Amino acid sequence: MPRPTLQKSTTGWLDYADNKPRELSSISSEDIHRIKTSSEELNRVFGGGIVPGSLILISGAPGIGKSTLLLKLSMERATAKKPSIYVTGEESSSQIKIRSVRLGLSGDNLYLLQSTDLDKIFSTLDKFQPSIVVIDSIQTMFDRNLNAGVGSLAQIRECTRKMMVWAKDNNVPVILTGHINKEGDIAGPKLLEHIVDVVINMEGDLINSWRLLRPVKNRFGSTEEIGMFEMTDTGIVELEDPSRSFVDEHRKESIGSTVVCVMEGNRPMLLEIQALTAPSFLPSPRRISTGIDLSRLHLVCAILSKRAGINLNNQDIVVNVTGGFKITEPAADLGMALAIASNIIGNPIGLGMAVIGELGLNGEIRRVFHLERRIEEIKRLGLRQCLVPPAMKSSKFQKRELQVINVDTLVRALEFIK
Ligand code: TYD
Ligand code: MG
Repeated sequence: MPRPTLQKSTTGWLDYADNKPRELSSISSEDIHRIKTSSEELNRVFGGGIVPGSLILISGAPGIGKSTLLLKLSMERATAKKPSIYVTGEESSSQIKIRSVRLGLSGDNLYLLQSTDLDKIFSTLDKFQPSIVVIDSIQTMFDRNLNAGVGSLAQIRECTRKMMVWAKDNNVPVILTGHINKEGDIAGPKLLEHIVDVVINMEGDLINSWRLLRPVKNRFGSTEEIGMFEMTDTGIVELEDPSRSFVDEHRKESIGSTVVCVMEGNRPMLLEIQALTAPSFLPSPRRISTGIDLSRLHLVCAILSKRAGINLNNQDIVVNVTGGFKITEPAADLGMALAIASNIIGNPIGLGMAVIGELGLNGEIRRVFHLERRIEEIKRLGLRQCLVPPAMKSSKFQKRELQVINVDTLVRALEFIK
């Protein structure tokens, strides 16, 4: 079936030449083939591969690894018949050459275009007919037909819109990079989310080597598929076993440490929470959390005091998720509560124990999603006991190596601090 062509309009949105209505059932879905990359993790993030003609935005803080990832991807896709084009508005070709040497890829059939001028870029793209295009970054591009400064919202929006038209018209995927600051709220990439087909955030921090690719929008797949990677000396590679990377196999039994299991998209992941309490000499004791929302820490402290009689009024409390990971779901509440309480009680939580559960305001333990998947992961990592919320069909796990224990209240869970 011929692909509908787009009018290269500068005023309209996406103006198809063939705009007669067609019955949905008459439209074939077979010819949507996806471009597979060598990384299964990456394919999953894209919803099974990159859809030709899609416009993709990879956003992330400066220095996180966007250029490294996309250079690798474009090198890998480059063939003699269908070269890749990497447009760089930020770095010189020689800088990119240095990076490519680090990645250990040949760079045959990958063409670097050092430009920020949209007209020039389009004429090159039309000439080369590439298999994939990378624009690094969209914030540096400008359209000379537009009377607005480089990096202005009007420029970013217009350049993106024209890239969208080119991608659809040529049925070639175009991947843009976009910087966001630590708060994630620079207007550029946020504004682009509406225009592009796929938005993938690259997360991580500059101290730790793990990188997470999190789709925030995907017109061709689920946004639940998270990709875990690691930045190494020779580029970005898949993180083989995330749970093992974040929970040290050789860790020692210690006061104030618990293992929790959180879901990152569809994937269960084990993390370690550490808490430290110390007598405070301040009128209002300090609460410091890294990797967990501070309001969640306040909530857990209030429940511990009120429902379990653990007095924290005169204690400074520090909570940390090891490895620099951020926990965003309440299923780690119980783990955090036990880590704090372990300090006050003065005893550790068993080494082989993992803890799952959200805390309710009455001190009850609430159910969490995907409990079975979390339990499977805990079992895989070789832990021996697991505290879980009540009313779960856990019988099939009981007999095997992992003992699953239902706990209905915080008070009951505290009994497991030896
Ligand atoms: P980069 O891809 O330039 O980030 P972005 O495009 O998001 O700004 O990555 C920069 C960082 O990655 C830099 O600090 C060095 C590090 N790095 C590695 O650790 N290994 C590598 O192989 C490469 C190429 C970069
Ligand atoms: Mg870059």
